[in-house]
Amino acid sequence: MGQSRKIIIDTDPGQDDAVAILLALASPELDVLGVTAVAGNVPLELTAKNARVICELARRDDMPIFAGCDAPLNRKLVTAEYVHGKTGLDGIELPTPEMPLADGHAVDFLIAQLRENAAGTITLCPLGPLTNIATAFQRAPDIIGRVAEIVLMGGAYFEVGNVTPAAEFNIYVDPEAAEIVFRSGVPMVVMPLDVTHKVLTTRARVEGFRNLGNQAGRAVASWTNFFERFDMAKYGSQGAPLHDPCVIAYLLQPELFTGRHVNIEIETTGTFTLGMTVVDWWRVTDRDANAMFMNDVDAEGFYKLLTERIGRLQ
Ligand code: BDR
Ligand code: CA
Repeated sequence: MGQSRKIIIDTDPGQDDAVAILLALASPELDVLGVTAVAGNVPLELTAKNARVICELARRDDMPIFAGCDAPLNRKLVTAEYVHGKTGLDGIELPTPEMPLADGHAVDFLIAQLRENAAGTITLCPLGPLTNIATAFQRAPDIIGRVAEIVLMGGAYFEVGNVTPAAEFNIYVDPEAAEIVFRSGVPMVVMPLDVTHKVLTTRARVEGFRNLGNQAGRAVASWTNFFERFDMAKYGSQGAPLHDPCVIAYLLQPELFTGRHVNIEIETTGTFTLGMTVVDWWRVTDRDANAMFMNDVDAEGFYKLLTERIGRLQ
């Protein structure tokens, strides 16, 4: 195997963020330089704690974990305890983390890593609101051209919104940050609800995790069990969408996903459409394409990969 790909995971855990982080840590193709926490599903104090709970579960207490922005660029934070529970990681009781947070701010870490590593070698993997990434781009515009690629979970188009009729949660929470990132010129791959609502848990898939017999498998099964109830009640679906692991699965097996390279603009002023990702799927404008917008996935292949990798952990 060639050199592993350097990534930084920017996250607001969240059960599905947790599964994404475990997938990355279980995969030798990826070199996780650090984990940066942002406010989103739950406030920053909890996302920064949860990131450490997850890394300790994966026996990676050496991982640098930084706390980042505690509120969107210029809005009040909207959280999602109604989906993820009070802690953000409800579903299984895990030990309070012993590893400390790394010193310094997540934004400074992002800037320093992008400056210190060769240009075009770091892929950013945002799994929550884009506040940390946008702040880093605003503060240090010189790093923008040094990012290899951004692969993120966020947005929705044909699938419409999950937090308002038009908007997906991660983009809705900080639309101004999303606008900065989508207009940055960095090559982007977007995993929207159109994809993530196709990777639903089923009884068999959850039992597949539990039957791995390791602690990570039990945690993934318990988290997804908890997380399921919300989407099943809301959509009448068979299970829960594992949104954020799609980002990491794409880095490992891009052929699982299909989409189109199109223009995506972020709605920052709409009365009813704030935070909408306006995707020019049919290429009806002459706006330049700025992102690969995925809309389909091989769900069986995705769960096969995820289950096999989670099985490699303790
Ligand atoms: C996104 O919002 C969060 O609740 C999930 O962790 C995911 O990143 C889905 O809209
Ligand atoms: Ca998330």
